[in-house]
Amino acid sequence: MRLFIAIDLNFEMKEELLYLSSQIKANSEKCSVTKQDNLHLTLAFIGESNEKDKIISALRNVSFPEFSLTLQGLGSFSNRGEKLVYAAMRKNNTLLSLQKDISNALKNNGIDFDKKAFKPHITIARRTVPKNGFEISSVKPQEISSPVKAFYLYSSDLSGRAPVYTKLAEFGCR
Ligand code: 2AM
Repeated sequence: MRLFIAIDLNFEMKEELLYLSSQIKANSEKCSVTKQDNLHLTLAFIGESNEKDKIISALRNVSFPEFSLTLQGLGSFSNRGEKLVYAAMRKNNTLLSLQKDISNALKNNGIDFDKKAFKPHITIARRTVPKNGFEISSVKPQEISSPVKAFYLYSSDLSGRAPVYTKLAEFGCR
């Protein structure tokens, strides 16, 4: 199965993200918005793996205090003329050290994952082509926060029209 590790978001932040993505869609020639249930912040992408139990026991040793994520602004990554639009978070050292601890737990247990530099982001729209002259960063989020009391191991099923993400295990804060 295809696996990744991520933080879920509270209702208020998801509502704000949906409002932001609706504004992006209204100003785009083409845009595929992330549906509410699928909004998350990825900490590590494992990909195809049959080591679910080993991953869960490795992550049980990761300890972190409760913290909050706060929306800061919108940005985009370009891919072949289309954009992935994301919400960025205010810089947060607890988030960075949690991500580092998760990476180390995976490495120390010989679990393979995507080791690209961590760029905390919440994808709110994919395959976006903005209308001429429209700047994605002109859409400003409200400073909404979401408490982080846990992270999750998710599976990702890409066989349907939209991805289906399912929580397989929860890892709470200390
Ligand atoms: P994205 O939103 O920037 O595409 C499930 O696919 C989650 O894992 C998404 O949040 C996705 O980020 C993230 N992810 C990180 N690295 C990935 C990779 N190499 N392939 C697919 N998804 C990846």
